This record gives sequence, structure tokens and C-alpha cells, in this order.
Amino acid sequence: MPSIMITSANRGLGLEFARQYAVDGWRVFAACRNPDAAADLDKLARRYAVTVFSMDVTDQSSIRDAAAGLNDESIDVLLNSAGIIGKSGQRAGNIDYDSWAQVLDVNTMGPLRITEAFVEHVARSERKLVVTITSGLGSLTDNTSGGSIPYRSSKAAVNMAMRSAAIDLAPRGIACVLVNPGWVKTDMGGPGAPLTPSASVAALKGLIATFGLAHSGKFFHYDGREYPW
Ligand SMILES: NC(=O)c1ccc[n+]([C@@H]2O[C@H](COP(=O)([O-])OP(=O)(O)OC[C@H]3O[C@@H](n4cnc5c(N)ncnc54)[C@H](OP(=O)(O)O)[C@@H]3O)[C@@H](O)[C@H]2O)c1
Repeated sequence: MPSIMITSANRGLGLEFARQYAVDGWRVFAACRNPDAAADLDKLARRYAVTVFSMDVTDQSSIRDAAAGLNDESIDVLLNSAGIIGKSGQRAGNIDYDSWAQVLDVNTMGPLRITEAFVEHVARSERKLVVTITSGLGSLTDNTSGGSIPYRSSKAAVNMAMRSAAIDLAPRGIACVLVNPGWVKTDMGGPGAPLTPSASVAALKGLIATFGLAHSGKFFHYDGREYPW
């Protein structure tokens, strides 16, 4: 049975990934900050091979405990989904530096902390894949409207971090790929977003099924196009 570990599996895209992979018969390691408040995930865990556990991507000791808790399990796909947008209205002239630092901690350092902590679980799997959800807002090429400085920079930085990780981990056969889910109706995306979580995740799952070392260090749109950095 293939396996996936998902950060932020309690709501939004993370929850939808957990649902779709569980229904497909995958073993799902579903991480979230507060399992006691994760009612939707709990429902999934009652029906499918879903293990729910606590992990905050900014907290090394919670990450270490979670990695130790998975013992010698293998993780075919490690999915970095956890993310925050930070305070709104962050344009040049109006930056909240504490909020920016928090956004970098979650969105940029979080995926690297998780990748390092679970690298042995991934290395012993068949697929050996690390997928990180970035954003079109992290693309330098796409940025013609400005604003969102903390969020944009956190995603541009995680793109660079994962491109380096792709090179660093290639000798172990591990691929690191970045994906943009599109603009999706979640708490972050808001009700005006054109895509449902179900449609975005279904498209991303199709892509992830094709990913391997040839895709490592690359950035893809959910529709399969390579995204400009
Ligand atoms: N929605 C979009 O339109 C869109 C577009 C481009 C990219 N993305 C990216 O897609 C990913 C998922 O976003 P979403 O739309 O599903 O957002 P969301 O609905 O706002 O959910 C965010 C998730 O991240 C978790 N999280 C926040 N801080 C965390 C931490 N320190 N440790 C662990 N988990 C943490 C939240 O957990 P709690 O419930 O505990 O707060 C929640 O599960 C993010 O990386 C986001 O940047 C989203």
C-alpha cells in the first residue's frame, strides 16, 4: 500500500489530499497542529487507513517526536501543505516584520524542517518524492501587481530551498518538486476563488502520480504546465 504524509491535513487543501488519497486506498499519515479539534480528519480515520498525529512545522521538538512516532514506516510522498498568508495589506511602506518572520518560519523553513526530519522515511520508500505546495505569488516572473511581500517572498524562498534540496537529495534517489495549486476556495483562498479543493487536488494527484527524478527541482502549475520562476 503506497503511503503519503501530509502536513496541515485538518483543513483546506491538506484535508482534501488526505480524503482523496485515503479513498484511493493509500496509507495516509495526517499531521496537524491540534488533532483534538480535527473533526473531519477524525471521520476519515474511522473509515480509512489514516493515522492522525500532532505536528507544528515551526516546532522542532514536535517534528522530532512525530518522526520518531512513525518509527520505521516508509513515506512514498511527503506533501508539504501547511502555509499561512500573514497580515493583509503588506506593501512596501507598511510591513509588519514580526508577521513576515512568522510567514517565513511556516512557509519557507517549515517544508525544509519536515523534509530533513522525514528524509529516512522517504528514502526507504518506493516513490521517494517530496512535493511542496508553493504559489504562483512566489513567481518573480508573474509579479506585476506587487504587494503581499511576506507571502510572496516566503514562497519564492521555498522554491529556491527546494531546488537546492532537489540537488542535495538526488544522490539518495529523492525527488523534490514544487506545485502551484491555483487559486482555491479554502480559508486562505477565500470564497471568490475559482477552483474547488476537490478539483485542484484531483489535478495535482494526477500530476504527482507522474513525478520522479526527471521532475525534481522544477515548479509546476496544477494543470501540468511548468511554472516560470
Ligand atoms: N488556497 C489557495 O488559493 C492557495 C493558492 C496558492 C497556494 N496555496 C498554498 O496551499 C497550501 C495550503 O493552503 P490552504 O489554502 O489549504 O490554506 P488554509 O485553508 O488556510 O489551511 C492552512 C493550513 O495550514 C496549517 N498551518 C498553519 N500554520 C501551521 C504550522 N505552524 N504547523 C502546521 N500546520 C500549520 C493550518 O492549521 P491550523 O488549522 O492549525 O491553523 C491549516 O491546516 C499553503 O501552503 C498555501 O500557501 C493556497
